[in-house]
Amino acid sequence: MTTAKPYLTGHYTPLVDEVTATDLTVEGTLPPELTGRLLRNGHNPKPGITPTHWFKGSGMVHGIRLRAGRAEWYRNRWVHTPALDGAPYMTETGPDLTASTAGTHVIEHAGRLLALCEANLPFELTPELETVGAYDFDGKLRTAMTAHPKEDPVTGELHFFGSSPIPPYLVHHVVDAKGQLVHSAEVPGASAALKHDFALTRRHVIFIEGNVTFDPQEHSGIPYAWRDDQPARIGVMPRGEDGARHVRWFSIEPGNMLHVSNAYEDGRGRIILEGPTVDREGFRLSWNWWVGAPGRGTEPNTRSFTRRWVIDPVAGTVDEQIIDDLAVEFPTLNEQYQGVENRYQYAVSFPDEQGFGGYGVVKYDRSTGARRIHQIGDARLPSEAVFVPAAGATREDDGYLLTVVSDLKQDASQLLVLDACGLDRVAAVHLPHRVPGGIHGSWIPDTPADRPAA
Ligand SMILES: [Fe+2]
Repeated sequence: MTTAKPYLTGHYTPLVDEVTATDLTVEGTLPPELTGRLLRNGHNPKPGITPTHWFKGSGMVHGIRLRAGRAEWYRNRWVHTPALDGAPYMTETGPDLTASTAGTHVIEHAGRLLALCEANLPFELTPELETVGAYDFDGKLRTAMTAHPKEDPVTGELHFFGSSPIPPYLVHHVVDAKGQLVHSAEVPGASAALKHDFALTRRHVIFIEGNVTFDPQEHSGIPYAWRDDQPARIGVMPRGEDGARHVRWFSIEPGNMLHVSNAYEDGRGRIILEGPTVDREGFRLSWNWWVGAPGRGTEPNTRSFTRRWVIDPVAGTVDEQIIDDLAVEFPTLNEQYQGVENRYQYAVSFPDEQGFGGYGVVKYDRSTGARRIHQIGDARLPSEAVFVPAAGATREDDGYLLTVVSDLKQDASQLLVLDACGLDRVAAVHLPHRVPGGIHGSWIPDTPADRPAA
């Protein structure tokens, strides 16, 4: 008898088919400026497939189309990659960058919709979520692409990296606002440490290497493991053509940060970086959930507490502290504040080992230290809360948080729209089936908001 994998049960039970539904029922009033598509990706292996790791499950993108107060459609589609049909990642000639689950994130840049997984090339989708194919920026991208590219809110440039367990370990890429890949440079000094996310400030590109690194003895399909002797470091690289020559690596305390909340330079030229981070025990409990091993936490992330690093490039020092006692993941913000000081931060809260907190959508006021939680309800799991600015917004938190809720008791899902100011419920869109717990997503507005002045 085998034990059911946690990523195939409960909230994470995969869907077995692709559906399209139109004219969805709306409770409350959808703000008319919510005109566009909310897309969310997640791992959803085909029926009969039991992946050896949560992240090896094939990607399925869910889309909800809103227009002027109506919910026009919902659809879910697998990302049709060679891996969906069983193609192996490793081949006799090395990794096949098209053999992707494409199940981590979905973004739009320069009018192109891309489903992402960090070990592979992106996969282009149509606005209706049909798969176009692997996309390599007209042959210019020869590395994998992180699932967490960063768009500069001022210039529209897309920065990202490709990482690999073998050299070159880290390559930084820049795509201009029109979608052309215009810069690629290997970053010196990087190691085989796992690099999931990074940060882009006005002046720097920030890389994070924790204690989780390449380990060929790990046979779950994702060959990484925690090592105490792997130095944890932050790489600070000036932006610009010549930046890679000037990268500096700073030692930090042991840990593993999956996601950056935000990073920026303060008035004294220091760099502030924040993100939920696990210690060794938190990683062990989380990893065991991801592979379905005994001795796992009850949640896919356990003990993921937000840390803050203050890097002083002049003094060559890093100050580090845990700044909150709530286990959170999926940090989000008003993306116009990406790379500059943000007052408000959002995240999803998970029950910690004591059951404290529960599932919720959390809002932090970084200037006052206040924390507000929208409790999502019994047996209900929210997905990453995506911030969408209100029409004519003047305040940072003038907008909405969009999250897809998996409701186990009702065996149903809703798109929940919260007021980002007070976290009150504004509207709920009923979806035709329960959407499994997943990973990341994006709001794709029909009319992108005007970019702020530099
Ligand atoms: Fe991620």
